[in-house]
Amino acid sequence: MNHPIFAPASETPAVPILFVNATSFEQTIANIDDGEQAFVRATGFEPKPGRHLIMPAADGKLAGVLFGIEAADDALFDPFRPGQLANVLPPGTYRFANAPRDPRLAALAFALGAYQFGRYRKTEPRNVRLVVPDGVDSEDLNRIAQGVTLTRDLINTPSNDMGPDELEAAARALAEQHGAGFDVTRGNALAQEFPLIEAVGKGSPRAPRLIDITWGKDSDPKITLVGKGVCFDTGGLDIKNDTGMLNMKKDMGGAATALGLAHMIMARKLKVRLRVLIPAVENSISGASFRPRDIYKSRKGITVEIGNTDAEGRLVLADALALADEESPALVADFATLTGAARVALGPELPALFTDDDALATELASAGAAESDPLWRLPLWRPYEPMLDSKIADTNNVSTGGQGGAITAALFLRKFIAAKSWLHLDLFAWNASAKPGRPEGAECQTARALYAMLAKRYGK
Ligand code: BES
Ligand code: MN
Ligand code: ZN
Repeated sequence: MNHPIFAPASETPAVPILFVNATSFEQTIANIDDGEQAFVRATGFEPKPGRHLIMPAADGKLAGVLFGIEAADDALFDPFRPGQLANVLPPGTYRFANAPRDPRLAALAFALGAYQFGRYRKTEPRNVRLVVPDGVDSEDLNRIAQGVTLTRDLINTPSNDMGPDELEAAARALAEQHGAGFDVTRGNALAQEFPLIEAVGKGSPRAPRLIDITWGKDSDPKITLVGKGVCFDTGGLDIKNDTGMLNMKKDMGGAATALGLAHMIMARKLKVRLRVLIPAVENSISGASFRPRDIYKSRKGITVEIGNTDAEGRLVLADALALADEESPALVADFATLTGAARVALGPELPALFTDDDALATELASAGAAESDPLWRLPLWRPYEPMLDSKIADTNNVSTGGQGGAITAALFLRKFIAAKSWLHLDLFAWNASAKPGRPEGAECQTARALYAMLAKRYGK
């Protein structure tokens, strides 16, 4: 199934979109038809980034569209700028008449910008299509756009329709689509084998579980993705306040990101043995909830004292990471809406990357920059590890003092995984307001960066 935005090159005539900036403007419009040029002058169109002008032909049809973007050498050049287009163009099929700096990202942004979440009310159909630019791999753009759409849809779906059951069903559907293996641990087995996942989830009538997808040849390099699947985070008995709780349907954003990325990897048939682990729970409040000062023995055998029930993400990830580590994969990547502190440090648009593997950090950061899917490295600063000390257990789940909260959360996770090639992404999974190609609401962060890195390593 192709993304509905992309049209085959045969779909003609396609209305040309001309990208212009302050420097190229005069020369570009000097080359168009006299009548159109006169029209552009008459409107007083200014070629500023994000401005557009629809040019009529003599017969009343669309002659073309002018769209302002930053100059290619502008430090603020936004490769996603064309993401605005699908929302302003009349129905029809379009093509890029002159290549923006990165036609592939421009086309991808066009598709991602057209995203709408239509599950709960009728949306205006876009009926806008784009002919994929020459030389751009349209199959790959499709895979990426589908993955991002899956991630966004899962996150945007409110918790009443996206509990552990529904997250499991979504994971199962993806596994079936790609002929992957699918396994779920719940009930007594979960309590025995994954005590921290059980502890976090047991306060909810929507039962906790661990979802385990496997795909690919056993002889290929093992890549394991772990996603935080907290289907709603009330904070637990350490309850959040109203503003803190409001957006916590997105606390399964890490799981949604892992699934979106898994789709890209499997659809591309990368030469890897992929595994996706999702602890799916609801951090809820009841008589059965786990409590502050409870102590649980984790899957790895480390005893954990609960300093705060709102630091639940690291608990469910700890047991999943311990399982991941048991088969010594070539790479383990976890995705999680883990800390408010990461957002204080880097804001909503820059997920924090943690890893001890310097080469991996460089490789991923450059893939992120190239894909316009940025991330920023923060240190696994060992001297802060004592902040996690407990007086009566091996570790506490939160640090004393609360400074450097994204780092201490990452240091907590590190206790449960020995693999050198482990990376942890602390992300927001949300656009508070719309930007080009990034509509307000759920966002898929870091999956495209990781996909590009893996495709380079393991693609044919
Ligand atoms: N899911 C939250 C973190 C979060 C909050 C991410 C808001 C994005 C936006 C996580 O489970 C949490 O509550 N973390 C606490 C940890 C604290 C209790 C040590 C936090 O960040 O305040
Ligand atoms: Mn929490
Ligand atoms: Zn959480």
